[in-house]
Amino acid sequence: MSSYFFLSLTALLFTLSLLPGSTSLPTSATTIGATYSAGTAATQMVPPLAANRSNALRWLYVHVVPFYPRTKISTISVGNDPLESSPDFSTFLLPAIRNLHLSLRDLSIRKISVSTTFSFISIITTPFPPSSAQFLEPALYTVVRPLLQFLRDTNSSFLVNLYPYNLYKIRSEIPIGFPLFQEHPFGFRDDLTTGVRYRNLFDMMVDAVISAMAVAGYENIPLIVTETGWPSFSTDPAEIDANPIYAELYLKGLLCHLRSGKGTPLRKEGVSETYIYELLDKQMRKGRNWGILYPNLTAKYKYIQFSGSYCRGFFDMLIMAVGQFLVFAFLRGNGSFSLL
Ligand SMILES: *[C@@H]1O[C@H](CO)[C@@H](O)[C@H](O)[C@H]1NC(C)=O
Ligand SMILES: *[C@@H]1O[C@H](CO)[C@@H](O)[C@H](O)[C@H]1NC(C)=O
Ligand SMILES: *[C@@H]1O[C@H](CO)[C@@H](O)[C@H](O)[C@H]1NC(C)=O
Repeated sequence: MSSYFFLSLTALLFTLSLLPGSTSLPTSATTIGATYSAGTAATQMVPPLAANRSNALRWLYVHVVPFYPRTKISTISVGNDPLESSPDFSTFLLPAIRNLHLSLRDLSIRKISVSTTFSFISIITTPFPPSSAQFLEPALYTVVRPLLQFLRDTNSSFLVNLYPYNLYKIRSEIPIGFPLFQEHPFGFRDDLTTGVRYRNLFDMMVDAVISAMAVAGYENIPLIVTETGWPSFSTDPAEIDANPIYAELYLKGLLCHLRSGKGTPLRKEGVSETYIYELLDKQMRKGRNWGILYPNLTAKYKYIQFSGSYCRGFFDMLIMAVGQFLVFAFLRGNGSFSLL
């Protein structure tokens, strides 16, 4: 949300749905939205929430009760990437989550679930091939496993910030086409253990999380991608992949893929919800722009429609128009793609 506030507690998924009419979609398609940061995230809320249920109730009276159900709040995330911010947080995390859950029950609110949000890069080890992925220790024992049990008991979801961009940046062997959903005949990787084939990095990362949950003993927990996106600009001139052409290709490819209802190789219903980071440019994180709108609320990407079906047609023309750029980038990663 607004930033990686340690101990921030944020009603995460105000469903700013970018998909008004979902009737024409396959039933298995993912709900798609965008994140909006209100900048009101409270810091240092969790130790009191963990200690005392009346604090949790009070928090709900301020942040949820006045708006609900007029505002559709589906999930409350206690913290955003808490382990990255401070490992000490882990002792407070589960008690705070439980207190909020019980307080919601006290208020007879049963449709809001409680969870926390991890970031893919700080929680998953050895993501390739996906079948080898596991949760990082010791977080697996201190936080993740008890959380998964809670999620199962309460029908809640596992929330993860999942950025192919970030993984691509640290794994130089990944060719640019793979995170950008550019399918071509040799653009796949097989997971020899599961015998499935991957054609984009997003699916590989999702399945890495699904495998890690299964290895921990928890299958079938719904997965929500709470943040994903591609920066269209960076103040760091060395970040050449943060450009509007790649950002548009990523978002377009992502939306087409999610709406196809194909899911991922390991989970045919796919992720249940995906939120694009973020609605408006803010340059909050490392001087990068992630918005799908400019700060003046005009659309940044002419050729992405956030409703309707558009996966064919213009796509190919766009690729031709930026052909040289892409060829250069493909060559950069050429030949050494050895993720598996
Ligand atoms: C919880 O916090 C409230 C307000 O700070 C306090 O009045 C109450 O005694 C606390 N309850 C427990 C069990 O600590
Ligand atoms: C979870 O969902 C199942 C099936 O929809 C339902 O039977 C069960 O009561 C739910 N459990 C909780 C704690 O909401
Ligand atoms: C909104 O901002 C963008 C980027 O700064 C600019 O290109 C565009 O012309 C602006 N639109 C309006 C209506 O001001």
